[in-house]
Amino acid sequence: MAEDPDELARLAERYRKFAADEAHGVSPHYERLARSIAGSAPILRFLNGLPAPRRQPNLLLGAATLIAGRPPDIASLTDMVASRADELRATMLKRSTQTNEPARCAVLLPLLAALPQPLALIEVGASAGLCLLPDRYGYDWGHARLAPASPGAPIFRCAATGPVSLPVAPPRIVWRAGLDLNPLDVMSDEDTAWLEALIWPEQDDRRHNLQAALAMARREPPRVVRGDLLADLAPLMAEAPTDATLVVFHTAVLAYVSSIEARTRFVDSVRQSRAVWISNETPAVFPDIAARAPASPRGRFLLAVDGEPKAWTGPHGQSLDWFAPGD
Ligand SMILES: C[S@@+](CC[C@H](N)C(=O)[O-])C[C@H]1O[C@@H](n2cnc3c(N)ncnc32)[C@H](O)[C@@H]1O
Repeated sequence: MAEDPDELARLAERYRKFAADEAHGVSPHYERLARSIAGSAPILRFLNGLPAPRRQPNLLLGAATLIAGRPPDIASLTDMVASRADELRATMLKRSTQTNEPARCAVLLPLLAALPQPLALIEVGASAGLCLLPDRYGYDWGHARLAPASPGAPIFRCAATGPVSLPVAPPRIVWRAGLDLNPLDVMSDEDTAWLEALIWPEQDDRRHNLQAALAMARREPPRVVRGDLLADLAPLMAEAPTDATLVVFHTAVLAYVSSIEARTRFVDSVRQSRAVWISNETPAVFPDIAARAPASPRGRFLLAVDGEPKAWTGPHGQSLDWFAPGD
């Protein structure tokens, strides 16, 4: 590909912005590395040779981690771009950022447990389906706990504040299915290695919890169907038992649906069905819901039920700040 200096400058700026806005305060290693990438002509040229949607920092860092077996530093990444460029390129073309964060179940559980039981769950954008197993994990919300129902399952710590009713028993889930453009398989070593590579270097708790959740999920893998949430939801909803409360939920997914019209079409399709709709997304995804929530603490997701805002949540399920009136 011909070198475009403006494009290289834009890429450098994108990696600098990633360092300042996303990695800063979360991963000193990735913050340093992203700044170094922004100053590295060979790495920027390598990125410029990829299709535009494949130049994302998280994709490069995950792919390099997968190949090296540990997070790269600037020297090893420069070396990889020089000597293993084909392998790195192939991984970045094959994979996408499909982080599956089961700890997000800690913010969903109070809503699920408060619904008429039993439940039939559909998760759109399920990745490997680890968030489809909220009844099996353990939870520690600070002032309330729930022991894991499955032996060896992780216990997710989530700091809960506000007038939220924290469950004393897991929800009763009688049917569950996920939908994803590219389902990952908890039984595949390649897929699970990719999920691990997407976790940032200093986040050991997340890595341990992911490994424990995967080990548990392998004993009874969740079903995740290949399909598009904009086109393939209705047939899945039709499979759900009618004597259970149907819930359609998503976390960290609808930002991938780029047009607000398409997101609205999805919402209409759920609202016109019998399903309860639970959304846990950045506030920019549904600005009309965010407009009815109190001011957002920086970097939080907005949790809503049937379009009603309920709480700000930590993006990896690490906090739940409930602002809706209590029962
Ligand atoms: C960041 S992951 C989140 C996975 C999971 N919901 C979680 O919170 O751990 C986003 C997932 O959404 C899926 N996805 C994006 N657009 C989609 C669409 N139009 N239809 C179905 N799945 C989609 C991606 O393939 C990816 O697996």
